[in-house]
Amino acid sequence: MRVMTVLGIETSCDETAAAVVRGRPPGPGTMLSNVVLSQLDAHRPYGGVVPEIAARAHVEALDAIVARALEDAGVRIDELDAVAATAGPGLIGGVMVGLLTAKAIALGANKPLIAVNHLEAHALTARLAAGIEFPFLLLLISGGHCQLLAVEGVGRYRLYGATIDDAVGEAFDKTAKLIGLPYPGGPEIEALAKRGRPKAFHLPRSMVGREGCDFSFSGLKTAVRQIVLKAGKLDEPTKADIAASFQAAIIDILSDRVRAGLKRFAGEFGAKGKRFVAAGGVAANQAIRTALDAAAKDEGFSFSVAPPELCTDNGAMIAWAGIERLALGLTDDLGFSPRARWPLSQDGQPAGLGVLQPA
Ligand code: KG4
Ligand code: ZN
Repeated sequence: MRVMTVLGIETSCDETAAAVVRGRPPGPGTMLSNVVLSQLDAHRPYGGVVPEIAARAHVEALDAIVARALEDAGVRIDELDAVAATAGPGLIGGVMVGLLTAKAIALGANKPLIAVNHLEAHALTARLAAGIEFPFLLLLISGGHCQLLAVEGVGRYRLYGATIDDAVGEAFDKTAKLIGLPYPGGPEIEALAKRGRPKAFHLPRSMVGREGCDFSFSGLKTAVRQIVLKAGKLDEPTKADIAASFQAAIIDILSDRVRAGLKRFAGEFGAKGKRFVAAGGVAANQAIRTALDAAAKDEGFSFSVAPPELCTDNGAMIAWAGIERLALGLTDDLGFSPRARWPLSQDGQPAGLGVLQPA
């Protein structure tokens, strides 16, 4: 299979990102450029992402970010094999901006368009970073999602379990807000937890020991709220204790659910596919990475997680998902509509209705 060069555009949340990646499946790929502009300062006063502000900021920034990505890579548009963009799921205004820009570039340069599922891009990042072979068990932990899936191939996902309430990143962000930390809460809690005692507060571990691989985090958030209400004004050591206790509870829940998933995966795929991958923004958390690595070792699995800057949203993972789909001849029509919701696993149906062309 030949080496491909693809431009990837990501605008589904609060990062305006573009990258040029070169490579072929199973990877690893070469990131010729990876430009990420975070809108954090614009959203911080509101304690979360404001969709309208995000969409406007993408409009203002995207052209320059794409130009930078091409320039940093030293690649001209006519040297690209395809243009890929996140087409969902995500905040619809932002997704529209990125997808429309990709369509314009593809049309102008007569290149194929690839409409990428953002979750599929997170799922395939371990191949971009380390060339991980299929199949593997995937823990996808981000601001909007928390799921365990068996990944059999591009577009071939078997859902083992998902959160029945909050996403894990959402739990980090809400807990951070409760104890007065800025958005996004994940990195703030991780830093503060280092100075706190993980057993200072007893917090619930919902679903632990239950059958299946589903997750639940809303009880944990409610328990933190009660502690905060009872304590009144929080001093720094108490905040650190809450952060450490919260992160310890998250780790216990994730580890338990992952162990159940690893056992099921080993039963279904046998000894040869014992690979476990974590992806999504929360997988940037070092304490969580260490715990997942230990769970994998116990079950005889290898563990792989991309560097933190590839766990949080970026353009390189979109470009790489484009390469994976292009290699299978999966390109999309310029009429492809952005999707606010777009689950990865629809009863085993492939994600996205790519137009199958001879490769
Ligand atoms: O994948 P991502 O960048 O965007 C989505 O697709 O959602 O994930 C963002 C989420 C946020 O909730 C953020 O708080 C969380 O990932 N996050 C972390 C860390 N870094 C980012 N959570 C825990 N620890 C971190 N170090
Ligand atoms: Zn994401």
